[in-house]
Amino acid sequence: MIRIAIDGPGGAGKSSVAKAVAKELGIIYVDTGALYRTIGLYMLNNNIDTKDAEAVSSSLSKFTLDVKFVDGKQTILLDNEDVGERIRTPEASMAASNVSAIKEVRDYLLDTQRNIARSNSVIMDGRDIGTVILPYAEVKIFLTASPEARAKRRYDELVAKGHDVTYETVYNEMVERDKNDSTRDIAPCVKADDAVLLDNSNLDFDGTVAAVLKIIKKKNKKTFYMKAHKILAPIIRFFQRIHASGLENIPSDGPVMFCSNHIAARDPILIAAALNRQITFIGKKELFKIPILGWLIKKLGAIPIDRAGNDVGAIKTSVNVLKTGGALAIFPQGHRYPGVDPSETTPKNGAALIAYRSKCDIIPVFIKTKNHKYHFLGKKEIVFGQPIPYASLGLNEGGSKEYQTATSKIFGEILALASPKEASLTDNGGDAN
Ligand code: DC
Repeated sequence: MIRIAIDGPGGAGKSSVAKAVAKELGIIYVDTGALYRTIGLYMLNNNIDTKDAEAVSSSLSKFTLDVKFVDGKQTILLDNEDVGERIRTPEASMAASNVSAIKEVRDYLLDTQRNIARSNSVIMDGRDIGTVILPYAEVKIFLTASPEARAKRRYDELVAKGHDVTYETVYNEMVERDKNDSTRDIAPCVKADDAVLLDNSNLDFDGTVAAVLKIIKKKNKKTFYMKAHKILAPIIRFFQRIHASGLENIPSDGPVMFCSNHIAARDPILIAAALNRQITFIGKKELFKIPILGWLIKKLGAIPIDRAGNDVGAIKTSVNVLKTGGALAIFPQGHRYPGVDPSETTPKNGAALIAYRSKCDIIPVFIKTKNHKYHFLGKKEIVFGQPIPYASLGLNEGGSKEYQTATSKIFGEILALASPKEASLTDNGGDAN
């Protein structure tokens, strides 16, 4: 699955470029502007002032809007009728721009857009795809061009379709829409921090498609981590006799923090092998100095932490991993405890602090082995619990008291995963810590 977000102002050629790219890659092209245009069209047809937020919002329940893809082509049905080209007139453009500034309209269309991307590889164009709709898109591009170049393209397009317009009108409307779209309070048309900026003022259509494909190819390279994971994870799972349960609780993307009990140094490797998504670990900085191992864990994206003090940098990096949609694993016990029942240990507040700063959900993890030790060739059961929603952690203002409460909750949920099944695990030999 790949999700490509293309945002940018009108007339930059997003839709025709995205259509060509979709064809080249064999994925679906989603034109989200058409959704706003359809709502704009409904308002025009029903004489509702598109600048009247209340009137527009209250009429959202009066029609049905469905999106269909037939042979990869998007069709929008307004009250079961294909809107076709009726949404492409200058009046519908302005109406779309107006209704798109209304929060209720954006909320109304949010799930429609996300649902399409949930089950399909897509290239989706719009204004807020990279920032709001698909913040974890694998590739984000902000496609733009000078207002003159964009107005000229839109003018040529309209004339070719037989519309009776002048360049000046198109230019003025474009500038007005640009202003509307980029200065509105909600979901303004702005480049996402992690989007690639592509100005195609001096590129023709083929040149733009080639540039977009190049960005996609470069951005969508499998990370070293996932390449290594593909080869190593099955081997580790087999030889370490890992049995993972609760994998269905893990979101395939978006920020999430795994909090696990800590038995031995191999815990991170076993968790990583059990999972099917990239995960970042924090390791004591001394590990990064060991030849080969240090190089490897650095390449795998581990974060070094200075255990001697309060390592602000490591916490900041961890928060950033989560804020950019990554997954982080942390051991709240702060220490390895081979042979010790984790319920007899005291967790530290680091995970709660990171959760507070990144507002992420938490997946509790319990590594079950006989007597809380690793045994040579013994079975290891890794249980992934239900996500603990951030909102349930009681982290409102931060501070040690709140962190303490959140830590107890997180640790309680980790311990709760240690079911009686543990007794059935057999060991095949001595300790191997
Ligand atoms: O891309 P377009 O010209 O068809 O978009 C029509 C209007 O809809 C445009 O003025 C801005 C708005 N829009 C939006 O606000 N968010 C999107 N994701 C797509 C379009």
